[in-house]
Amino acid sequence: MQLTVAKDMESLQEALAGLAKAGKRIALVPTMGALHAGHVSLVKLAKEIVDEAVVTIFVNPKQFGPTEDYGRYPKSPEEDIKKLREAGAALVYVPSADDIYPPGFSTSISVGELGKILEGKSRPGHFDGVATVLTKLFLSILPHMAIFGEKDYQQLCVVQRLAVDLDLPIEIIGAPTMREVDGLAMSSRNVYLSVEERKIAPKLHEVLESVGKVIASRKVSVKSALDQGIAALGKGGFKVDYLELRQAETLAELRDFTPPARLLAAAWLGATRLIDNIVVE
Ligand code: PAF
Repeated sequence: MQLTVAKDMESLQEALAGLAKAGKRIALVPTMGALHAGHVSLVKLAKEIVDEAVVTIFVNPKQFGPTEDYGRYPKSPEEDIKKLREAGAALVYVPSADDIYPPGFSTSISVGELGKILEGKSRPGHFDGVATVLTKLFLSILPHMAIFGEKDYQQLCVVQRLAVDLDLPIEIIGAPTMREVDGLAMSSRNVYLSVEERKIAPKLHEVLESVGKVIASRKVSVKSALDQGIAALGKGGFKVDYLELRQAETLAELRDFTPPARLLAAAWLGATRLIDNIVVE
């Protein structure tokens, strides 16, 4: 199927009607563009589990704080379309900020406590912005499923909660984090890293792996394993925002290792904030 590029609601609805008429089941892959192999893997997964992949590219102003990188978020529109065409996506919706938030727009979805911990602590309002835009995209596209990378693990939990709480008839699927060969989690923001920082960056995943092993061995307390990890990251040149062990579904804090558990971290490397997470089992 040829890729349709829809730049407004009317052409989006026309293309969706075509897919529905052909009896296609669709999976949505929401993105902010600057696509990398991680996004491509989500499109391919979509095509494996349903008939067609529908992608959105929208840099959502409501999920960026006032001092964050909204204005300089990486953009590569032509390369993005090329990658989506090669990956076999059927439709990409590229709305403008005015299409999504026309003058007078004032509604916001609040995701409560789940949006205030971890990422939400450092980025107040971030998950409300994510939930607001995704609710709009879900309702205008009404996909059978929506796929999210586990790299943004808290986002995945928030979206799962959102779908349950609002009775959205959409199955939310998590897909494994794609990594560079040295272990660094793929992210559109990795382009911000200097050559030196890029060499150091994989240490975040390395430390997660080693702390995860120590926690799983139950030889020391969770707190002491986390403290060792924070110290190792500091020594490696990171400024740690958090390194925490959480229950894998509710993201409740875990003082003792009780599976299913997720180890999540955010740390600054110079001016770039990296996040990553792993399962601990
Ligand atoms: O993960 C992202 O790229 C964004 O948070 C998303 C899900 C596209 C919402 O703007």
